[in-house]
Amino acid sequence: MRKIIDELDEGPVLDAALIGAAQKVEHYEIAAYGTLTSMLKAMGEIQAADLMAQTLKEEKDTDELLTQLAESEVNPAALGKRPANDQTKGSRGAA
Ligand SMILES: [Fe+2]
Repeated sequence: MRKIIDELDEGPVLDAALIGAAQKVEHYEIAAYGTLTSMLKAMGEIQAADLMAQTLKEEKDTDELLTQLAESEVNPAALGKRPANDQTKGSRGAA
């Protein structure tokens, strides 16, 4: 992530790149925790498997939140398009 921060100017492109980098980490964690959950189940370590599955769910939830943030706001801004929820422009200032 340091390299991304050093190479890009502050703004929506950097934000999009940082979200992508964070999602790489989440996907790595999902793979690791998913494998561990399966292995613990196979070993009969059900309590530990349940705990690992909770952590796995947290990682998936975080990944989904990052996707929602990227798709709703950051990616459109990075591409020079108005975010779907941006109400700072448009008819509001017509008075
Ligand atoms: Fe994570």
